[in-house]
Amino acid sequence: MNDLGFIHRFVPAPAGIDAPRTLLMLHGTGGNENDLLDLGRTIDPRAAILSPRGQVLENGAPRFFRRLAEGVFDEADVVARSHELAAFVGEAIRHYKIDPAQMVAVGYSNGANIAAAMVLLGVAEFPKAIFFRAMVPLSNPAPVTAKTNGILISEGRFDQIAHPDQGAHLERLLQQTGAKVDLIFQTAGHELIGSDVAAAQQWLASIA
Ligand code: MLT
Repeated sequence: MNDLGFIHRFVPAPAGIDAPRTLLMLHGTGGNENDLLDLGRTIDPRAAILSPRGQVLENGAPRFFRRLAEGVFDEADVVARSHELAAFVGEAIRHYKIDPAQMVAVGYSNGANIAAAMVLLGVAEFPKAIFFRAMVPLSNPAPVTAKTNGILISEGRFDQIAHPDQGAHLERLLQQTGAKVDLIFQTAGHELIGSDVAAAQQWLASIA
């Protein structure tokens, strides 16, 4: 589907679920709007899913913002693309009649980084978020009070891309926006493993 400004998928919650949660699924580099649908269904089978495709192409690989090299982000682009994605989320909330109070962003790698940037810039509508293998997307964000008040960050202890110290730095920045942040480490590298999914399920159950 190519409307509301982003190619995306919207999968409604199963029939009969009252006040469903909506998971905003944000893929990693080279992914697309279909990639994380199964992950979303596994994390919460009762939720609706909204999943946009990043609009930046790096050698044909979709991303949510430009980078200058591996781990070196074009921060002006991070800011512009965060606003663009926030505008899409606002349009989707209206179009699909999503309750923003029930929205949880779930991002992996580049998708986690754009979602973290939206929180740090104060343009995120989602009150909760789960970031898998996240990095610091903005080195010196201006102080804001974010609407996002609960965040789970799940990092890989042996991650060569999102190094563990990035998780700790991101935790501090997000705490400065007023969010409660739970930072956990998996015995893993950059790839997701079963315990990431289990931790996300448990965390969602704990905030429900
Ligand atoms: C990725 O491969 O997606 C990254 O290393 C994270 C990013 O560039 O945002």
